[in-house]
Amino acid sequence: MATSFPPVVPGRFQMLHGGDYNPEQWRHRPELLDEDALLMRQAGMTAASVGIFSWAALQPGPDSWDFTWLDAVFARLQAQGVGILLATPSAARPLWLAEDAEVRRMRSDGTREDPGGRHSFCATSPRWRAAVAEIDRRLAERYAGHPALLGWHISNEFGGAAENGRCHCPRCIAGFQGWLRRRFGDDLDALNRAWNSAFWSHSYQDWAQIRPCDRSNDGLMLAWHRWCSDLVLDVVRLEKAAIRSASAAPITTNMHGPMDFYDHGAVARELDFVSYDCYPDIDGSLRDAEAVAAASFYDGCMRGLAGGRPWLLMESCPSQPQYKPRMRLKRPGMHRTLSLAHVAGGSDGVCYFQWRAGSNGHEKHHGAVLMQDAPTDTRVFREVAELGADLARLGGVVGAACPAPVGIVCDVHSTWARRVSGGFQGEPAPAELAMTHHRCFHECGIHADLVDADSDLTRFSLVVVPGVALLRPGFAKRVEAALAAGAQVLIDALSGWYDDEAAMVAGGRPGPLAGLLGLGASEEMDVLRTDERVALTVTGGWLPAGTHAIGHCDLVRLAGAEALATYAGEFYAGRPALTRHRHGAGTAWYLGCRLERPALAHLLARLANAAGIRPPLPAIPAGVVVRERIQPGRRYLFVLNPQPQAVQVAVGPGWSDALGEATMPATLDLAGHQARVLTRPA
Ligand code: GLA
Ligand code: ZN
Repeated sequence: MATSFPPVVPGRFQMLHGGDYNPEQWRHRPELLDEDALLMRQAGMTAASVGIFSWAALQPGPDSWDFTWLDAVFARLQAQGVGILLATPSAARPLWLAEDAEVRRMRSDGTREDPGGRHSFCATSPRWRAAVAEIDRRLAERYAGHPALLGWHISNEFGGAAENGRCHCPRCIAGFQGWLRRRFGDDLDALNRAWNSAFWSHSYQDWAQIRPCDRSNDGLMLAWHRWCSDLVLDVVRLEKAAIRSASAAPITTNMHGPMDFYDHGAVARELDFVSYDCYPDIDGSLRDAEAVAAASFYDGCMRGLAGGRPWLLMESCPSQPQYKPRMRLKRPGMHRTLSLAHVAGGSDGVCYFQWRAGSNGHEKHHGAVLMQDAPTDTRVFREVAELGADLARLGGVVGAACPAPVGIVCDVHSTWARRVSGGFQGEPAPAELAMTHHRCFHECGIHADLVDADSDLTRFSLVVVPGVALLRPGFAKRVEAALAAGAQVLIDALSGWYDDEAAMVAGGRPGPLAGLLGLGASEEMDVLRTDERVALTVTGGWLPAGTHAIGHCDLVRLAGAEALATYAGEFYAGRPALTRHRHGAGTAWYLGCRLERPALAHLLARLANAAGIRPPLPAIPAGVVVRERIQPGRRYLFVLNPQPQAVQVAVGPGWSDALGEATMPATLDLAGHQARVLTRPA
């Protein structure tokens, strides 16, 4: 079969439809376990994520093991054609292990986490590490050859705990000091210089003095973020090695939330495929459009981590998550529409948290495919089963590319650097800026991948660099390579402030980006009150008439670039706000201020046009999501209406229905909360 990319699970040219399945919570109800397997088949489930929190059931004591119940789960699901994404259980530990204080995270105030909870281990604990490696190895040895095994789900949502699960125990602090020693080649003076530790007389005389509790030392706090992130990476490697001792099946870990707990790019490079847990806040209000756009942003983050390859939506809620401010039910059709939006964004499947809600425990109200032992003939079940049938018909989409001509740099090192540095904190954080830019492409139906600052940028014809405050080693070279390859590159004034230690960049900002932009070093940046704005004078129509600067106004000097907009007010009237500079085969653009979204959308549409990017449809009604996925010889067009009101969407002639036989009209009538998938030869 010709596909753009291999499927996330080798050989499975089938959309995955699955979910977290916690049968260890129902072992006293064997009839429900039988029912689970039968109903999974009815719901068109092809995958279940099993064992995520099963450690106590698998290893009830230090030297006792019980795999019989899991053997039976494998057998029952296999008999119904359901594959298994087997989890390593490291996210929550059994109480016999948690009784040993060393395995429990030490909080920043020096107290230990209580036993219980989850995600709160000390990653350097030798006892914990040995126990994790052992149970992972036993699982791998036992199930590596099982035909139902699809792949491995390492742990659960790393960083999803208080203080992001960071441990302050003496052993972790000593590990941090050792990590710094290696980073600075055992040269304490070099560290003191890089961090300007002379500030407030904080120079270190000994490595042992370095503790992550001095918030006045920006370099130190940035390093702490990085060391904690490296510890996550280290645990992933530990678990991967244990699995790989016996099993070659693909490995993932479920990413989640704002993705700033650790360096996801570094972790993604260890994985066979990436996956994400997505719980948009849908409440039927006008804010839903933002939630849908944010979900699409995280789809773009996954594609960025995967280098454009498909990924997997590992968790979503078929009904309503219990953690939302209001547990308002998703309206009929909404689950299907939101799920297909992720498929449109590159997910080769739809999975849930969770299959059957637990009878008790903290998530008993959380929407699931089945609620406890309540009747199974429910609206949610029917909608899940209908989606299962749709996904079965979309096998041709598996491995399809999301043609993403736009790369937006969103780098966690910049997020951390801004967080620890203070200053212009009223201005949006890097990820928020990235999301604002992404939304402009989202609304035009253009895939934009979110990539970190270590990524190659030459696969994009338009590169956006918003709020990339910290210049990772080689980042300017990667921008230059994109320009050399002919890209349009837009850099904003919140980029290029710091070197890799969060020190102000040498020679003035934006450091080595200035030469690419044809600018001299910026002099100063004015940060406006929220009720202030500065009019712009625009030439060439790159911004709409009447555009104002909001947020901040950077004061740069031209050194080869031309100004396409200038400030029309303030003491800096006449100074450039938007500049253009040809570099290599490409063009580098500088935006010195922030824009309201319509003006930003106008600029980005113009830049996309200059980069030769065409949206999949010339006009998309407000609120409608349109995305394309392509295979060799075939195109799929997803048209999704996540809002209550009906819309008409002009798709043009020649499409047929990917979910049925019908030829589609050139103009689609789409009811509220409805979605269509169209296809045609490429
Ligand atoms: C996360 C976790 C799940 C569950 C859900 C509830 O995604 O991974 O175990 O807690 O949230 O929304
Ligand atoms: Zn620790």
